[in-house]
Amino acid sequence: MFKKVHSFLMAKSYDYAMRSTEKKCLHEWRMSLLSQAKGELLEIGAGTGVNLPHYPERVTQMTLSEPDMQMRKILQKKTLSMQKTRVNITHWGIESIDMPDSSFDTIVSTLVLCSVPHLENSLKEIYRLLRPQGTFLFLEHIISDHPQTLSWQRRIEPFWKICAGNCRLTRDTATAIRASGLRIKQLTEAPMTGTPAFVSRTIRGAASKPEL
Ligand SMILES: C[S@@+](CC[C@H](N)C(=O)[O-])C[C@H]1O[C@@H](n2cnc3c(N)ncnc32)[C@H](O)[C@@H]1O
Repeated sequence: MFKKVHSFLMAKSYDYAMRSTEKKCLHEWRMSLLSQAKGELLEIGAGTGVNLPHYPERVTQMTLSEPDMQMRKILQKKTLSMQKTRVNITHWGIESIDMPDSSFDTIVSTLVLCSVPHLENSLKEIYRLLRPQGTFLFLEHIISDHPQTLSWQRRIEPFWKICAGNCRLTRDTATAIRASGLRIKQLTEAPMTGTPAFVSRTIRGAASKPEL
């Protein structure tokens, strides 16, 4: 019951809660990052569909994975008006994407790798699903590099993850991307303006799967 109410409230309030941060930085970051997307694309944890307006016409087909039913309802409404690109919405989480190896030219994750149950396994799946020379585009909040903030992150995390859909505050996502075998080609680090220090450190960029 708690899960159902929580999921309903999260989905209904997500766009409104993020509005100010979108205006201050996220909108611009998404626009610039996602302009690199092309071909057959998988977005994991597509949420309410905030990335949809940023995909260029070079994206020929989209698979939008969103395990949360309430988020998926909003996502479905937003895709109704998209006529040019073929869109497939699925309930799959990143750990259960039912597609063969090397299915996608582009995989996108924005503010999702903090919430997946197992970061390393999720990146293994991303590696498996990308075509050689395909691109993984990411925008994620990560572990702080300030000892005092990190100490707060560690204290808050057990409660935060219950209230915020399993969101972890102390993931070193860039290191995990490198360890997965993907090669980071672009990496920008910046604070997410207007958010508390314990979630503000972000990375965004592109990683490619090497030719076999
Ligand atoms: C903070 S929201 C981000 C939504 C959107 N990507 C954005 O940039 O605003 C995190 C999303 O990740 C989804 N999510 C959580 N666990 C997931 C998993 N294991 N696989 C795929 N998506 C997941 C949640 O349902 C939620 O929609």
